[in-house]
Amino acid sequence: MIKVAPSILSADYVNLQKDIEKVDKGGAEVLHIDIMDGQFVPALSYGPGWVKAIRPITDMTLDVHMMVTSPERFVDQFADAGADIIGVHVEATPHIHRALQMIKNKGVKAEVVINPGTPVSAIQPVLYMVDQVLVMTVNPGFGGQKFLPETVKKIAELNEIKKSEGLDFDIEIDGGVNEHTVVGAYQAGATVAVAGSYVFDADDPVSRIKAIKDATK
Ligand code: DX5
Ligand code: ZN
Repeated sequence: MIKVAPSILSADYVNLQKDIEKVDKGGAEVLHIDIMDGQFVPALSYGPGWVKAIRPITDMTLDVHMMVTSPERFVDQFADAGADIIGVHVEATPHIHRALQMIKNKGVKAEVVINPGTPVSAIQPVLYMVDQVLVMTVNPGFGGQKFLPETVKKIAELNEIKKSEGLDFDIEIDGGVNEHTVVGAYQAGATVAVAGSYVFDADDPVSRIKAIKDATK
């Protein structure tokens, strides 16, 4: 069964605590927090202050997805704010190895992220040092986009490398995830599914978490 990571990008910001408590009690293991800088992606979202505010209200794993150019600039701030996992895009820095080292040096789990247009080979040299790989299943920047099925073969490729090299990272998917799109990704080796609009735009977010889990039993 896949782990579910609701993305607060689609939550009700005015009632954020209520929404977080709902998905926490509803069986989600991870809370996905999307950081957008208006440069790496067009939109702006929120910063370390949000992670710091959320930290005391939940024990869920806080998964910080940095859609930020030169993420090295902010790694320490997100670690100090209470992130459990920090994800950096390989496309966002010429120094991906250094960025991942910085995350690990803070005692936080390190994640490398690839866009739909980026091949697995671009991250092969750093796979030995990561706790999680995030395979974007849409182009990053907005919630509510359609899942790109062509990304699934990259999940399978990563899963092969994981087995053949005896590595131990989680494979996360992000974008357009619902009870249908999650199935192929899970079969290919995904272990964590981010879901934003599918969970929070529903009248009953808990039933959506359950639907994703039931589809991957
Ligand atoms: C997109 C973000 C996602 C987003 C997913 O750039 O990284 O985490 O919240 O939203 P849905 O699940 O609606 O595609
Ligand atoms: Zn995300």
